[in-house]
Parts: sequence; structure tokens; C-alpha cells
Amino acid sequence: MKIQSIRGVRDILPGEIEKWQWVERIAQHVFKRYGFQEIRLPVFEKTALFSRSIGETTDIVEKEMYTFADRGGEQITLRPEGTASVVRAYIEHKLYNPPSVLKLYYLGPMFRYERPQAGRFRQFYQIGIEAMGSASPLVDVEVMTLLLDFFQQLGITGLKLEINSLGCPECRPVYREALKAAIRPHLPELCANCTQRYERNPLRVLDCKVERDREIAATLPRFRDHWCAACQENFTEVCGLLDAACAPYSINPLLVRGLDYYSRTTFEVVSGNLGAQNAVCGGGRYDSLVEEFDGPPTPCFGFALGMERLISLLPDDNSEDLRHRPDVFIVALGDAAARVSIGMAARLRGDGFSVERDYDGGSMKSQMRKANRAAARLTLIVGDNEIAAGKYTLKNMENGEQREIEEESLSAAVTSILNSEPDGD
Ligand code: HAM
Repeated sequence: MKIQSIRGVRDILPGEIEKWQWVERIAQHVFKRYGFQEIRLPVFEKTALFSRSIGETTDIVEKEMYTFADRGGEQITLRPEGTASVVRAYIEHKLYNPPSVLKLYYLGPMFRYERPQAGRFRQFYQIGIEAMGSASPLVDVEVMTLLLDFFQQLGITGLKLEINSLGCPECRPVYREALKAAIRPHLPELCANCTQRYERNPLRVLDCKVERDREIAATLPRFRDHWCAACQENFTEVCGLLDAACAPYSINPLLVRGLDYYSRTTFEVVSGNLGAQNAVCGGGRYDSLVEEFDGPPTPCFGFALGMERLISLLPDDNSEDLRHRPDVFIVALGDAAARVSIGMAARLRGDGFSVERDYDGGSMKSQMRKANRAAARLTLIVGDNEIAAGKYTLKNMENGEQREIEEESLSAAVTSILNSEPDGD
């Protein structure tokens, strides 16, 4: 019986995984420079953690969570995002007194029951960052700058940072009412989704993708005309700091995000090369979430980026460099050679080289073909004559040069040949 993977879920195979590993290495490198440390979080949590933080009326909680009762009857959800878990861990382990802001990052799979399409999966991967413990706009801007820095290190261009402010508990209810009043006359024209959103989450009408709704959204009142003085001042400061950091951005008054915990600065990074699912990253400030879960007042700022979308934006030119290439491929001819070469392989690996071999004892020609297909840098030829002479042939697969090497000098010879090659590492 043939069983296939579940819709919207995919394998990441060798050939593609090298790109993922490279992105993760760059992420760790960049994040470290900004003082972020990794946190590993559980893949499932109590359902209430997500429904209360993301918001009962959001699409994620209403339609997209993988929720089930475990064998003990507990309501469990496969995490649709990471922020809620970071907040839970922060409170559970009382990570309250870092020397400065607590800076955490995480990476791993997230689960949302969305309609699969290009760039949208039911299991997808995020890299996320959360900076906890300061309301300063310096944090907003430093985190957004880190993100731009990261994209630059990856060589991804053509991205746009869009920002907005979603106000605070003081001005949001005022705006919500103004928005509802302005939407009301258009209710019969809106899509079914937005008609429902009107009562429960009217801000989401602003970022509906349906064409007619977008035309209506363009005519609706803007949040910026309803910000309280403090939110206005905060947004001006964020923009000023982004200018000072030479970070290019544009203001998108229709940016509202699909999770309810945000206040003040919110942002997305969008690409023109991603089709309908154009957001590669989203985030913002969430100043009251920790308190809502009975933690101390802890203003926070963070983002998460979608790995699949990010990977699809990587320039193609580095994929050959990222391909795994064995340093040495052992071609062993005959039973005695098979025995002798297993020790040689162990010593070479012990000295830090990646070693591949033929396991089935084919002809010289077929083993050399395998070495070529594996893109090995060197082959080590071990046969009866070599064993008798105590010298082995090391062949440079780039230029065909061969050397006779004694076993004791093997690692030194491999090092010297690899170091003389332009792409040796
Ligand atoms: P989000 O906007 O829901 O935010 O997701 C962040 C990113 O995850 C998106 O921009 C997108 O690239 C990717 N993503 C989301 N859903 C899918 C999907 N079904 N398939 C593929 N990629 C997807 C959050 O998750 C917040 N926790 C971000 C945050 C962190 N805010 C503050 N801190």
C-alpha cells in the first residue's frame, strides 16, 4: 500500500536542505551579533495559550488550528506560531531580570490548516525573534534593522519593509468604532468573510485581498487620524530612528496583521516575487501579552519569517557551492582493499574529512563513476598492488593529477590538495 504525505505538508530533501542549513547558519551568526540567544520550544501546547493570545476571532484560531484532545482528555494544539510559547516560557521560568532586554530566537515547524497554494503550507517553518522588556522605539528599529541586515547577508533583494501603528488600548476602540461606522453603508458589497469580520474584527476588512473590498478599504478612515498623542509621537520616533539607521521603509496604513496581540508598531516585509502570498516576514510590538498571562508588565517586540518563502527568494547562484561534496571518495578494489580501506576511512574522518566510498565492490570504472556523481574532490585508490607497495593513489578530481602517498602522509596530502583548490573548505 502506497501512503503519501499529507496535503500542504512536504519533505525537504537533500539538494534543498543545504540552502536551509545555510540560511540557519547565517541567521544564528547575525542574531548573535545583536545579542539574541536560542530558545527551543515545544511543538504543542495547551489550546488556551493560542486562542487567548492570538485572539478568539482571528482566522488562525477560528479556522486554522490543529487541535485535538490527547489521551488524557487535554485540549492540545500544534503550535500555529511561536510568540505565545515564548511568552508562556518567559513567565513559567521567570526570565524577568536579564541584564538588558531579553533577546530570544527560535526556529521550527508551525502548523495552520490553511488552503495550500504556492508559498502556503499546512506545516511550514518559521524563524522568529522576540525582544522582551522594553517599550523603547530603539528596540523596534534595532529588530527591524537586524532583519534587513539578515536579508542583505543572504543576498536577497527587492524586498519592501512596510510599517504601520495599530495604536494602543486607548485609541484602538475609538478607531474601531469610526471604522465600523464607515464600513456600515458598504456592508452589502463586502465579501462574506468581511461581513462576518465587521462585528468581531473590523480592522481585518482593511487587508482583505478581494478586489472590490480593496477598493472600499482605500476609502475608509485611517488609523493615523485616530492615534492618541502618545501613539502619534511613538510612530514619529520609530520613523525618525529608521531614517537614522538608513533603513528604507514605506508606511502602509492598511497593514493590520492577522493576530490580535499587537499594539503600536507593526510591520511586514513583502516581495514582488512571491505571488499572492507576498509576506516573507511579519511582526511588531505586543506590549500587554505578558501581563494578560499574569506576568509582570513586559513590553515586547518581535517578528517571524517564513522559511519556505525566504528560501524561494534566495539567489540561485550559490546552490552549487552549498551542495555536499565528499573530500575523499575511496575506491577499494578487492576484499583485502575493502578491509584495509575501512581503517583508512576511519582515520581520515577522525582527522575531520568527509569520506564516501563504494560499498558494493564494483569495477574501477564503476567506482570512479560513483565518485564523479558524488562530486568528490579526491579519490583514494586502494588495490592489491597499493597494499603491497604501501603507497596509495590520491587523485585530484578537479584536474586529474595523481600522487602516490604513504598511509601516514595521507591526511597531510589531502589537506594540502584541498587547500590549494579555490573552492576547498
Ligand atoms: P505571521 O504573520 O502569522 O506572524 O507569520 C509570519 C510569517 O510566517 C509570514 O510572513 C509568512 O512568511 C509565514 N507563514 C505564515 N503562514 C504560513 C503558511 N501557511 N505557509 C507558509 N508560510 C507561512 C506570526 O506568526 C507572529 N508570531 C510573528 C511575530 C513574532 N510577531 C511578534 N513576534
